[in-house]
Parts: sequence; structure tokens; C-alpha cells
Amino acid sequence: MTRRAERSILLVVCGGIAAYKALELIRGLREHGIRVRPVITEAGSRFVTPLSLQALSGERVFSDLFSLTDESEMGHIALSRSSDLIVVCPATADILARMAAGLADDLATTVLLATDTPVLVAPAMNVRMWEHPATQANIATLKARGVEFIGPEVGRMACNETGPGRMAEPETILAAIVNRLDGEPPLTGRTALVTAGPTHEPVDPVRYLANRSSGVQGYAIASALAAAGAEVTLVSGPTTLPDPPGVRTVRVETAREMQAACTAALPCDIAVCAAAVADWHVIPAPQKIKKTTPDAVPTLKLVPNPDILATLSQPSPMRPRLVVGFAAETEHVAEHAGAKRLRKGCDWIVANDVSPATGIMGGTENEIMLIDATGCEHWPRMDKTQVARRLVARIAIFLHTPQPDSEIA
Ligand code: CTP
Repeated sequence: MTRRAERSILLVVCGGIAAYKALELIRGLREHGIRVRPVITEAGSRFVTPLSLQALSGERVFSDLFSLTDESEMGHIALSRSSDLIVVCPATADILARMAAGLADDLATTVLLATDTPVLVAPAMNVRMWEHPATQANIATLKARGVEFIGPEVGRMACNETGPGRMAEPETILAAIVNRLDGEPPLTGRTALVTAGPTHEPVDPVRYLANRSSGVQGYAIASALAAAGAEVTLVSGPTTLPDPPGVRTVRVETAREMQAACTAALPCDIAVCAAAVADWHVIPAPQKIKKTTPDAVPTLKLVPNPDILATLSQPSPMRPRLVVGFAAETEHVAEHAGAKRLRKGCDWIVANDVSPATGIMGGTENEIMLIDATGCEHWPRMDKTQVARRLVARIAIFLHTPQPDSEIA
């Protein structure tokens, strides 16, 4: 694909409840200096108004195949060739079926049939519609023709059902678009440090203090950062997980070893501290502590561990441009996590409720709040890999957007 001075996309908005997210996508695209020409289907205009699309994109909105004015200004063939990329968002089961069948009975399908421009679709539909063999066959046909799919994600949908079908979040779609237009992953040339897993603090040669962290979320973040093009160092406490491909993994046991490995990984652009670092260690006994009498209980003297996140966050020439901490809380999650962000001096905090009932610690799903200086954003419960991808998409946007302070838009 030839890179043009101004990158431009044709955004086809179809009729689904997720159409409102197309508005946020347009805003993000404009912030990236990407020109957006909207095309809206008739059903799409039942969910968002052409006026909203026009106001946000600053462009004329095309909708009618038979409009004499539209045709005289820019015919549908020219429109189909006018951009670097065509994005269908949301892509309903209906538009996927019509694309797969090669129909051209409205402006959107005509443009999609007439184009030789790459097409990216962001599906959004009810889980049963997504899983229906007809839809799956259409998806296979479109993929075989080179159509790129972003999402859908797994989660709760507007229809109250849970499963695959929820549209990818606008920042994830934005990252995919920027990636596609720039021809290279969005974090190419960036370096990242991720901590993950628990730490083990030895008590004696056979015993240690530990916690329930599995490392799954941190590993997923390291993988997602690497997939986005970053050069990643993962400093991991003891876990049963394999080293993520494409990531430099440094295995440590204790908090102090983790801190040393993190310091050695500086400087870097991004630090994400997902490890559940033990707050204390004990001076380990040189030999196994024995039960002298049945009633004798040893006393362990706890000594504070270094706070890795707080150290990384301190103002210094080595400070990463973006430092993200995690806050594992069991009550008053937003308040405690907000206070933790200020206390530790990091830019963002990913807060989650790790009460046993949530099943988050050691589980495969997470439900987080992303907190920065401007506020708190609640993300629905989703797979930890999805949390990772969405967080990384957000990191990429942050690093690509010149701004004095971190901000959740
Ligand atoms: N953290 C760290 N070094 C420590 C303790 C915590 O880098 N010694 C980081 C974690 O990786 C996480 C954040 O600090 O990003 C918050 O960890 P958490 O365990 O929730 O908070 P604590 O500082 O331990 O505070 P508390 O246990 O009182 O909630």
C-alpha cells in the first residue's frame, strides 16, 4: 500500500447497537490526524445520525447510492478508491452476509464490492448470530478474500447474553487501523518492562512466603506488548507459565531480585508492574526450622521489601515515559486504588477486586478499572488476554499522542 501524505479511511457504519462506538472511533482517528469519510447504511442511521458522523469527522456523510448530488461530487466507484483503508464498524451479520455474497444493493455494499482497497471489519452481533454456521461460512469466505477481522470480543452484550459477539473497543480498532496504515506495529521501536507473578520470600531452605498470583495477566500484557512491536523484558516471579514467545523473560524468586532485574532493564519507555510483590521478607534461617516441642511456635520477623513500582515512578532521567501499576484490592477498590496511584507516583493504575468470590486471582478473566489523573474507567469483565490487548492499545495511543499528562479520554 502506498503511504500518502494524509492517511484516510472510509468508515462504513452499519445498523447495530455498537454503532455509537463508531463516533468514539472517529474522534480517535481524527486525533491521529487520519481523515475519515463516513458512509452510513439505512439501518446504521437508525442508531447514529449522519449529523453526528459529519460533526465528528468534519466530512460529508455518504448514504444514498442513487443521490445525484453525491454522484456528481464523488461517484461510488471513486469513493471506493478514495481511501487507504475501508473500515466496517460495526459489521453486522447482515453486512458480512451481503459482502460474502457480493451484493451491491446500497451504497455501502456497492463501495465494498467495487473497491480494491484493504478492508477491515469489526463485527458486532448477538452470540448466536456470530456462531451460526451461515455467519461462520461468510467469515471464512471473507477471510479467504483477505478481509481483516478485528474482534469480536467475548463478553456480556446489550442483549444480555454472554459469549463472542461484542464489538472490539474503539481503541483496539483504532490501534489496528493505525497499525495497518503505518505498515508497522504501533509500539515498534519502544521498549517495555513488565513484572508478573508472585514473589517467594524464603523462610528457611524449604519454606517460603508467597501469594496466589498466577502471572497470567502480566504474561498476557508482555505478549500483547510484544505483538504490538515493543521490545519487552518480562521480570517474572515463580510461575508455571512458559516464557512468552518474542519476550525476554528474566526469572526471579524474591522481591529484591525482582527489583534488581527491573533496574537492570532500564531505561525503557513503558513499565507495567503486574506482579503481586510480597510486601515483606524474613531473614531466612540457614537451616530448616525445627519443631523443638509441640507447643513452640517460631516468630517470623518481617522486614519491608523495596517497592518496585514506587521506585520506577520516581522522577528521574531513567523514569519510563509511562508507568502503570496494578492495585489488587478486596474492598473500596476505586478509592484504595486511586490513593495507591498517588502514593506510588505511577501514571495509571489498573485496579481489580481480588476477593476470592471474584475468581480473578488465579483465574482467566479480569474485571478492571483504569485510573489516571483525570478519572476512572470501568471495563466489563473479559478474558485476561483481552484486558492485555485493550491496555496495550491504550498504551499505544498514549505514546502516539503528544500530551503533557496522562489522560483517559
Ligand atoms: N508493588 C511493587 N513492589 C512492592 C509492592 C507492590 O512493585 N513491593 C506494585 C505491584 O506490582 C502493583 C502495585 O505495586 O503494581 C500495587 O500492589 P499491591 O499489592 O496492590 O499494593 P501494595 O503496595 O502491596 O499495598 P497494599 O498491600 O497495602 O494494598
